[in-house]
Amino acid sequence: MTDFKQAMTNIADSVTEVLDDLLEQTEGSENRLLEAMRYSSLSGGKRVRPFLVVATSDLFGVARARSLRAAAAIEMIHCYSLIHDDLPAMDNDDLRRGMPTSHIKFDEATAILTGDALLTKAFEVLASPETHSDGAVRADLCLAFAKAAGDRGMVGGQMLDLVAEDKDLDLDVPAVTRLQRMKTGELISVSCEAGCLLGRASPKANGLLKAYSHDIGLAFQIADDLLDVEGSAEEVGKATGKDDAAGKATFVSLLGIDSARDQANMLSTQAAQHLDFFGGKAGLLQDLARFIVSRKF
Ligand code: IPE
Ligand code: IPE
Ligand code: MG
Ligand code: MG
Ligand code: MG
Repeated sequence: MTDFKQAMTNIADSVTEVLDDLLEQTEGSENRLLEAMRYSSLSGGKRVRPFLVVATSDLFGVARARSLRAAAAIEMIHCYSLIHDDLPAMDNDDLRRGMPTSHIKFDEATAILTGDALLTKAFEVLASPETHSDGAVRADLCLAFAKAAGDRGMVGGQMLDLVAEDKDLDLDVPAVTRLQRMKTGELISVSCEAGCLLGRASPKANGLLKAYSHDIGLAFQIADDLLDVEGSAEEVGKATGKDDAAGKATFVSLLGIDSARDQANMLSTQAAQHLDFFGGKAGLLQDLARFIVSRKF
């Protein structure tokens, strides 16, 4: 196994352990909610966002006990976004991470509540003193995560994504870039920002990681759109061919497969270059930029 694959596996295992602790089962009848929260967050997933939090935090010597809590928080927000994204009212998907989606395994109302609870729990974790001893750092983390997840971030992007199904709108490349930046890029960017906040990164380091995360965020969604066209459900663990069927404007629908892939590769290379400043210390983050565009799942 390469150092990168090993690091990904280690961080994924560690964040799963932390999530397992944080999502402790209860005795009451509300335990169905905990079961559903655990179902959607404990198994599967590439754990790309937790990897970004931890690998960025490592650049600044942040203790793993802290970075893994922020990593668990971002994964909870991400899992909530997937549960709601799969609902019949949105993408209406039955398969996620190779398993039945939350509303299929449980029911729609439970899936909605599970998303709500994961989102809220993430902020409970961020605001807790175990995440950082300085209240100002915790407030900054909460603010950054709220901005990235909300109306100007992921949820706003999901709204644009629904609107993008309207053929009359004729979205162009700048409009799709904005949509993808919000829908996917913001949670990816805040993952790196969390490491910078926890590690009190210098403005220079912060700026470079912002540029890096901006590029990989876009590349990540282009790769997802390519997998939707080229991948199979067995490989990617979710239904494919959905964007085209829904008439969704994506980089692939606008530019074609080859140009979309070129664009993703260009962004990945550019992202890695932003981190040359850190020398060998940022090698894993540079490997991640390459992984994002070469992945098959
Ligand atoms: C899928 O995200 C949704 C997008 C934002 C494209 P991931 O590809 O990170 O999904 P998991 O976490 O690995 O299942
Ligand atoms: C969803 O994008 C991104 C989220 C904010 C959840 P997609 O709808 O393309 O994600 P998949 O393909 O279902 O994972
Ligand atoms: Mg969607
Ligand atoms: Mg979807
Ligand atoms: Mg997709």
